[in-house]
Amino acid sequence: MSGDIEGVGIVKTYKARGDVLAGQTVHALRGVDFRIPAGGAASFIGESGCGKTTLGRILAGLETYDSGRLSVDGVDLSGLRPKKREPYFRRIQMIHQDPYSALNPTRTVDAILTDPLTLRAKQTGRPKSWIAERQREVLSLVGLEPDYVLPRYPHQLSGGMRQRVVIARALTVDPDALVADEAVSMIDVSLRLGILKLLRELRETVGVSVLFITHDVATARYIGADGELYVIYRGEIVEHGPTETVIADPVHPYTQCLLSAIPVLHGLERPGPDRLTPTEPLADSQSDDGCLFAARCPFATDRCRTERPQLGHEGGTEQEHSCFHPARRHVVAVSA
Ligand SMILES: Nc1ncnc2c1ncn2[C@@H]1O[C@H](COP(=O)(O)OP(=O)(O)OP(=O)(O)O)[C@@H](O)[C@H]1O
Ligand code: SF4
Ligand SMILES: [Mg+2]
Repeated sequence: MSGDIEGVGIVKTYKARGDVLAGQTVHALRGVDFRIPAGGAASFIGESGCGKTTLGRILAGLETYDSGRLSVDGVDLSGLRPKKREPYFRRIQMIHQDPYSALNPTRTVDAILTDPLTLRAKQTGRPKSWIAERQREVLSLVGLEPDYVLPRYPHQLSGGMRQRVVIARALTVDPDALVADEAVSMIDVSLRLGILKLLRELRETVGVSVLFITHDVATARYIGADGELYVIYRGEIVEHGPTETVIADPVHPYTQCLLSAIPVLHGLERPGPDRLTPTEPLADSQSDDGCLFAARCPFATDRCRTERPQLGHEGGTEQEHSCFHPARRHVVAVSA
């Protein structure tokens, strides 16, 4: 088993909640394709509500999807019965945003790690003595001192330590992939880099692939500069390619807009005169005809408003993108 993960045409819709849009269909994912090789890194970036968490939850088996194909090591999970599917999803572990709510406050780290390890020992026919050994191993892997953390409760640890415990718990099941959903956004800024560094190191030390879900390009780049970057807009991938290529030379106006928020990044030091309209959330009643970004795009033409662009290499670009008018532009996002 190697751990290649592939999605083809993943579609997910919800019935909207709330007063205004209640009952309407929300297109969280509109046919998303991706491939993450074993031990690789992939980052999914996009603004709030674009479908990142939905994708992460689908990958970790916490959410169903309407259509499409999700496969691990070439095995199509869509066709499997829940019992057969479960071991595959166990291999993809999700690291949530908030480590505090992910850990039971009434249990010590010792107890938190003992439960999954007891199950793992049973599954793999290992003796009970292995549990304590493995506890110490996974804690060391995440940079925690076992004697210090094992007897402690989550509230007795710092946010960074708690997130490390969450990662250690994920490692107890020997996963192939970690899905880190905004995994550092609720952690004190001073501790964030340590967690990002850890995720990067785990790719080497345990060979897990890391799927990083974020709205922050800089962290995506830190985790997986050698990996793939997927830019999602309203449930659709609009640009995808090697992380460095997309960051250094984005061709889709939406990616350019996202990147313009971090002007110090290589290649974007001199934002140019082009302006993108503010990225306020769009009502789902927004027209789905033509390019989904057309209403905000300063480069939209009549074609953009009537025809839906498909992912491809139009303009001879190295990365895939879905724009009729790809171009290197230095843009800057402006407020209303
Ligand atoms: N359980 C649900 N019921 C109804 N709508 C949902 C549900 N979960 C997600 N959605 C909707 O699906 C869309 C995608 O949501 P998702 O949480 O995946 O976005 P996101 O990219 O993770 O956003 P954020 O950056 O704010 O975390 C949003 O419009 C959201 O309101
Ligand atoms: S296809 Fe047209 S509207 Fe869409 S991003 Fe490209 S230029 Fe803008
Ligand atoms: Mg989210």
